[in-house]
This record gives sequence, C-alpha cells and structure tokens, in this order.
Amino acid sequence: MKGRVFSGARPTGRQHIGNYLGAIQNYVKLQQDYECIYCIVDVHALTTLEDTDKLQENIREMMHDWLAAGLDPQQSILFVQSHVPQVMELHTLLSMVTPLGWLTRVATFKEKARLQPENINYGLVGYPVLMTADIVLYKAETVPVGEDQLPHLEVAREIVRRFNNIFGPTFPEPQAKLTDAPIILGLDGVNKMSKSLNNEIELAASPEETRERVMGAFTDPERKYRSDPGHPEVCNVWRLHHHFTKNHDQVDVIAQECRDALRGCVECKEQLAEGINRDLAPFRERRAALAASPQYVEEVIADGARRAHAIATETLREVKERMGLI
Ligand code: TRP
Repeated sequence: MKGRVFSGARPTGRQHIGNYLGAIQNYVKLQQDYECIYCIVDVHALTTLEDTDKLQENIREMMHDWLAAGLDPQQSILFVQSHVPQVMELHTLLSMVTPLGWLTRVATFKEKARLQPENINYGLVGYPVLMTADIVLYKAETVPVGEDQLPHLEVAREIVRRFNNIFGPTFPEPQAKLTDAPIILGLDGVNKMSKSLNNEIELAASPEETRERVMGAFTDPERKYRSDPGHPEVCNVWRLHHHFTKNHDQVDVIAQECRDALRGCVECKEQLAEGINRDLAPFRERRAALAASPQYVEEVIADGARRAHAIATETLREVKERMGLI
C-alpha cells in the first residue's frame, strides 16, 4: 500500500514562482509514489484575520493554480479545510492532551505575538494543534513542508506520541519531508518571494506582465555601469536563471559573460523573462482553460471534500471510542 502524504497551504490567492518551485512542484511529484491529500487551510488563515472578504476568491485562484500545475484530482484529494469540519472536533479533542507550555514556547507563536500584540488570540496559540488535527485526521505519515514549519511538525509528533501513550496506538508519527528546492528570493533580491512584499512573479501573469516585473528586478548592487565586471554569485537574476535556463552549461556561460562585462543586466533579464514565459506557457494555457470552466473547479472542490469526509469520519469515530466518548 502506498504511504499517505498530507500537506496544507494557506489560501494566498494566485501562486508565484516561489510557491511553485518551493512547494507545488514537489506536491505534483509526490503523487507518483504516495496517496496524497492537499488542503487549502482557510481556518488557519483566520488566525491572522487578513482580508476575509477575499477568502473565497483566494481559495479559487489557488485551486486553479494547483490544478494547472498538475495536481490531479483523480489521483489526489484536493479540498478546503473548513469543508471537512471534523478537523475542528479533533482539534478540541487533541487540545486535551496538549500542555499549554508546548504551544507558547513555539518560535512562530512568539514571533506572531510580537508582530500582532493587539491580537494574540486563542486560535494562534492552538495553531499547531489544528495543524496536527489536519495531519492525523488522515493518518498521514509524510508531510511535505518548508523548513519554517519544522517547529509545528515537532509539536505534532509530541501530541501524537502523547495521545498514543495515553489511549493506545492510534496515529502514525508524522515525518516532515523537506523540499530540496532552495528558498526563492523575490525581485528585490533580498527577501523570500512573497505577495505581501510585492516582489513576486505570479504563475498566471501574462508574458508582458512577467517581462515588466523581471525588468524591474534588482541585480548585482555593485555593478553600476554596463562596463563594470558583475558578480553573478550575489545576483538573484542569475540564481533564477538556474531554474529557467535548462542547460546548465548555459548558466555557467551567463556567469562568465557577466564577470567579463560581456553581457549587461538588461540582456540578462530579457533572457530570464523569455525562459520563464517559455516554461510557463503550458501552465498558462491549462489555467486559462480552467478559468473558462469554473463549474469544473467547483466540482473538484466538492468531490475532494466528500472523499476527505469519508476518511475523517472513520478516524474520528476511532478517536472518540478510544477517549471513552462512545
Ligand atoms: N502551517 C502551514 C503553513 O503556514 C499550513 C498547514 C496547515 C499545514 N496545516 C498543515 C502544513 C498540515 C502541513 C500539514 O505553511
């Protein structure tokens, strides 16, 4: 039997190339070897209460991107967290075996508390418990995540161990599976690519928009004139060439030409934009087709919820039995 993978992602709307290279591409690949369940975590998004008026739109945009990128609803379960409300029931039950100290010492919680001192809500403290419920509701063993999620996964494993100790072996201990893709920096060349910093390139952008964005990217800060020798190793445009210039000899040639001042940043960016547009063309075609059939995407979301619901009901029955509720 294939192992089970679960991962969740916040509904951030249209996805960018950082999301693609860092997570989505990996989700797609895992479908070959695992039974995969991928969830858009709308309830987790409420812990920071941003833009709830855009929540539905963001969920749809993200699902369009997932499908266009190759997540296959025939193979995998793709669903929206709140559509399977058993997760909230399980969250409450798991909270009974979770010492508060485990949660308040999590680095991401402390960071959030520092960033939003006026809104340190109960949900924020329980964030890793809800995440644990997401994973164990489906008894997933493998959880593809970025490095930033490791502290949460550690809490999940502790909760599972404790539950299994008290009530008998019920859940597998979930293992994090880190993606090997390096963190993708945004167009500012310093920060991780992210929508909130407006340094992203959207997967669904038009070729013209993509070109415009890339032409605005920061390059080697020490190179002022075209005749100055460049430093590709500090240039994010060069780093991005690794992902969109398939032939690696060519990436080396680019670096050498830059060092020798034989190529300018403008040329280099033109070429990068072309590479991105070429590689994303099939994605963009599929996405346009999906956008033209919103009914299909609604069906995918409904079907994912149905299938997730069936597994969730079974697990929750077992948990309640073990906890003496039935
Ligand atoms: N906390 C994760 C993030 O911000 C999202 C998430 C929620 C998740 N539930 C999950 C990831 C379960 C993996 C498994 O990226």
